[in-house]
Amino acid sequence: MADSAPTVPAALTTDAPLAIHSKQTVDPWNVSGETGADGVVKAINYHTLIEEFGTKKILEEDLVRFEKVTGHRPHRFMRRGIVFSHRDLNYILDRYERGEPFFLYTGRGPSSDSMHIGHTVPFEFTKLMSHRWLQDVFDVPLIIMLTDDEKYLFSESREIEDVQKYTAANVKDIIAIGFDPKKTFIFSDYEFMGGEFYKNVTRIQKKTTLNVAKAIFGFDGDFGAIQGATAFASSFPHIFGSDKSISSKIPSLIPCAIDQDPYFRMTRDVAHRLHFAKPALIHARFLDALQGPGSKMSASIDTSAIFMYDEPNKIRTKINKYAFSGGQVTEEEQRAKGGDTDKDVSYQYLTFFLEDDEELERIRVAYTTGKMLTGELKAKCIAELQVYVKGFQERRAAVTDELVEDFFSQKKLVFRGNPHPIAA
Ligand code: TYM
Ligand code: TRP
Repeated sequence: MADSAPTVPAALTTDAPLAIHSKQTVDPWNVSGETGADGVVKAINYHTLIEEFGTKKILEEDLVRFEKVTGHRPHRFMRRGIVFSHRDLNYILDRYERGEPFFLYTGRGPSSDSMHIGHTVPFEFTKLMSHRWLQDVFDVPLIIMLTDDEKYLFSESREIEDVQKYTAANVKDIIAIGFDPKKTFIFSDYEFMGGEFYKNVTRIQKKTTLNVAKAIFGFDGDFGAIQGATAFASSFPHIFGSDKSISSKIPSLIPCAIDQDPYFRMTRDVAHRLHFAKPALIHARFLDALQGPGSKMSASIDTSAIFMYDEPNKIRTKINKYAFSGGQVTEEEQRAKGGDTDKDVSYQYLTFFLEDDEELERIRVAYTTGKMLTGELKAKCIAELQVYVKGFQERRAAVTDELVEDFFSQKKLVFRGNPHPIAA
């Protein structure tokens, strides 16, 4: 028998009761789909987001170019429209072809002890870009920011000590995804603030009046200057040298989920006025909460997400019990009408984590025609996630404090195209 729709507390998406007809909200603090007349939260409409935000959809022709330039078949995230939107990606590919430097930048707000499988999506994608795709002409350095200050400032209950504890745990999670310390600098705001980085923070602050920040964020978005300054190479003289006539021209490419875009809209705007290279972006959609499309996983709600520390049995229980089903209520009905893969969370997770395109297509056809039941679909999803999470846990167990120190240290990075080459 197929599962019936789980009841989801309103608090999953917002603190306020869900308003009827409320519009979809996507920003760094809230992600929720539109509430329909029937009171049901709809899936996030990513087409509308592209229009509202003014980003560019990743088109078939972009994938063709990407493959030509990098020499690699686009990752399943790109083939399946999970990484679906960008700003100025073509400009970065032009630079890559010409052998001109740029860097990758991504981040994490340490809000809890454990990251969930949704958080790993932009990091997995970043890993591929930095370590496989963009290496042939020259490889590029990667900067990973941990916004511990953000997670302290925007929470009533968290203390600085809490976020520092989360930072120490999350940095090991990020390293376990698989980055190269020779090419990667990881920092937390509390530890790194100062020097050229802080100068750039204040340069941005001076150029963004409170009104601009309010228009973008809906409230005082002071923090935006910190997240933005990381997009500028001149914030990192230990990597890009102290000659600003060189570093100010080196742009970043920022992989992130689309919720982070408002920060970087402001950064792009201010870059122009500071005569810094504008950052480019590549956006992922969200991995839905277990409760269904229309929300993203929440690190503070255990039953909304699969966490990177969940044991195999816990993964099974969570998927079986909470994963919203697009199937019919009874087996008979499922056989007759088939299930809805757009709404089905287990199917959605398979689109993120199952590599084999043909297998995925077989599952889609079998499920939508009623040949496959919800139980079988869930079993496939459980198996994939167990493998992914187990692999992560094994790598995570091997991350030492010395390795963390190496990533945090302000050393020169090894990358071809380095404007300040070092004997590598
Ligand atoms: P944070 O910690 O909320 O999220 C970390 C990264 O994961 C993405 N993300 C998701 N992706 C797919 N499905 C989900 N359910 C999901 N939930 C979160 C986020 O978009 C992000 O890419 N302020 C940031 C930290 C940050 C940052 C950056 C992120 C600083 N600089 C530059 C990206 C790029 C934050 O709190 O992320
Ligand atoms: N509205 C349905 C329910 O309550 C399922 C649902 C789908 C949902 N997406 C959601 C609920 C997002 C809350 C948030 O069972």
